[in-house]
Amino acid sequence: MGSTGVKRSLRVAWILITAKVVAAGIACLSNPCLHGICIDDVNSTYSCYCVDGYTGVQCQTNWDECWSDPCENGGTCIDGIASYNCSCPEGFIGDNCETNFNECESNPCQNNGTCIDMTNGYLCSCIPGFAGDHCEVDIAVCNSSEEVRCYNGGQCIEGPGYKFYCKCPPGWAGKKCEDTVDECESNPCQNGGICIDAHADYMCACTFGFTGKSCEVTIEFCDSNSCSKNAICVVEDGLQVCYCVPDYHGDRCELQYDECLLGPG
Ligand SMILES: *[C@@H]1O[C@H](CO)[C@@H](O)[C@H](O)[C@H]1NC(C)=O
Ligand SMILES: *[C@@H]1O[C@H](CO)[C@@H](O)[C@H](O)[C@H]1NC(C)=O
Ligand SMILES: *[C@@H]1O[C@H](CO)[C@@H](O)[C@H](O)[C@H]1NC(C)=O
Ligand SMILES: *[C@@H]1O[C@H](CO)[C@@H](O)[C@H](O)[C@H]1NC(C)=O
Repeated sequence: MGSTGVKRSLRVAWILITAKVVAAGIACLSNPCLHGICIDDVNSTYSCYCVDGYTGVQCQTNWDECWSDPCENGGTCIDGIASYNCSCPEGFIGDNCETNFNECESNPCQNNGTCIDMTNGYLCSCIPGFAGDHCEVDIAVCNSSEEVRCYNGGQCIEGPGYKFYCKCPPGWAGKKCEDTVDECESNPCQNGGICIDAHADYMCACTFGFTGKSCEVTIEFCDSNSCSKNAICVVEDGLQVCYCVPDYHGDRCELQYDECLLGPG
């Protein structure tokens, strides 16, 4: 074999090798890997390397992350790509619905009711005197017909729960207006006056020289008595005023009533 023969053989070999490489490199040209990258092999084959979450020879299958039933307590699994979500039933939270949500955390019970957490909800246990799903109803007691709440005309006012208050009319006191008030207790009569308790009131019997409801007024007598017939002369607003004994009248008590004018009694 001459040198040209050697050259030709090399050329043929080169073409064969090139053909082989070209043949090997075209397998990936058709993008056979749906979710991944393609690597050419020899013999016109290829290999797929998949994006996370896909499987299959051509990375065509979205791997079902829900296959193992990861959601607890009846949660519904929603498959994603290399992930899943759980749709939880009411009352459960957490990635896998593993936590029973405590509905009592928001303190839904009013008026010191006790909250009891249930699987899907809560119950309020009310203290006496309250009712309703959230203990929001303050039970009325004033209009109960079984019992008189306030005596002696007292007005019943609702309090929290079974509590109530009585607004007593004047002269009455006590939780249920059952006590009379002793108006003399505060010693209202001054200057030695004697107190007489009356209903919702008092009277004062004043000592000589004092007058007024509480004997608080000092009677000012006139320096010289210009009134006649034993009348009393008193200074009022700077003026002398005569107070007559019965049967007498007139500015200075100088006149006497004629009883005959009244006719037979
Ligand atoms: C290529 O094909 C030949 C002949 O069919 C075989 O012997 C060889 O194992 C193959 N190589 C690969 C990597 O598949
Ligand atoms: C899961 O939930 C997240 C947040 O809501 C959302 O971004 C994601 O798309 C959801 N995935 C699936 C598979 O539903
Ligand atoms: C609830 O409890 C608080 C604290 O003990 C108290 O002050 C309040 O009066 C209570 N409320 C009712 C409606 O009983
Ligand atoms: C008291 O009043 C409430 C609300 O007005 C009413 O529901 C209830 O029947 C009344 N009770 C009586 C005994 O009248």
